[in-house]
Amino acid sequence: MERLLVEPFYVMKVLERAKELEKRGEKVIHLEIGEPDLPVPNKVKERALELLKSLELKYTESVGIYPLREAISSYYEREYGVKVEPERVIITPGSSPGLLALLKVAFEFLGEVSYSDPGYPCYKNMVKFLNIKGRALKVFPENQFKVEAKDLKTPVLIVNSPSNPTGSLYSKKELSKLAEKAFLISDEIYHGITYGQRATSVLEVSENCAVVNGFSKFFLMTGWRLGFLIVPKEFVPQITAVLQNIVISPPTLSQFAALACFEEETLRELKENIKVFKERRDLLLKGLKEIGFKVPVEPQGAFYVFADASKFTDDSFSFAFEVLEKAKVAITPGKDFGSNGTEKFVRFSFCTSKRNIEEALERLYSYLR
Ligand SMILES: Cc1ncc(COP(=O)(O)O)c(C=O)c1O
Repeated sequence: MERLLVEPFYVMKVLERAKELEKRGEKVIHLEIGEPDLPVPNKVKERALELLKSLELKYTESVGIYPLREAISSYYEREYGVKVEPERVIITPGSSPGLLALLKVAFEFLGEVSYSDPGYPCYKNMVKFLNIKGRALKVFPENQFKVEAKDLKTPVLIVNSPSNPTGSLYSKKELSKLAEKAFLISDEIYHGITYGQRATSVLEVSENCAVVNGFSKFFLMTGWRLGFLIVPKEFVPQITAVLQNIVISPPTLSQFAALACFEEETLRELKENIKVFKERRDLLLKGLKEIGFKVPVEPQGAFYVFADASKFTDDSFSFAFEVLEKAKVAITPGKDFGSNGTEKFVRFSFCTSKRNIEEALERLYSYLR
């Protein structure tokens, strides 16, 4: 079989080339990767070290340990004022396999799934991999790249707010309108990382919905592979059975250590990080505009700027490689996020220090101007 079952991430090609350049001794500045550079909370690391001495790392229940399901349930109550029974919270090894299981189950219960273009690539790729019916909905800068209820024709919609790659945030009213028309799968992985108003959880506006979330972004724990779902009661047995088969259980050490995430001190520290992200965002936005990029939607959350590079190119895929070769700055081509006008766009991630961002901007300025 020659053709891949799903499309790869094009950015991986950028990363591969960046690594080759680095091997040759070049200093590449990485603005392509969506992985927070800030350190994992201390309490989590301390807890993990203690646990390693005392805990036998055996499988846990497929749906995860009850104390963590409870901690997530009360976190959602504190943050959003919603009540969800811990039995509806399912822990997964990162949010990605949770989303995969949920998509299949939601499709079997309800039918065709829509997602936005541009949008997070895994939605389209997972739909394709599962061989379920899916529909890309074109979204445009004029509406901040958000899906509008009038365009929604399927019983299920994936929403991602704050969004990757655009940083757009759906208001409570917008989410309510969408929830009136479809079952929402709300990818809330960037919740907690917002630069003004907080993000609304879909659970605040509808009963008829599911949440995908995890510990990789706000909690900074990418490599700990921990995520969770909050689903309607009738989905639980189906999703549990799928997870029993495909993952057996989420990582034991990560689950116990993650309990420390919900302690006051850790949450306070994590909330402080938002100031750091905000400063980087402001710096990057200002610099990119000075160079000549257009930013039709300033990110209200997450850690990306989706910039229109049409002043410099009409092929942002080649442009990403050109910028890497000439300015030694790695960025993500728009093509990764869909096909609706994405050849004009590139995504800059601000998961790196202000110093690196400044240097990247200087390099881009001298190359492009
Ligand atoms: C929108 C979105 N959803 C989900 C994920 C997956 O995260 P993880 O599997 O690490 O929880 C990512 C990662 O970049 C993302 O950007």
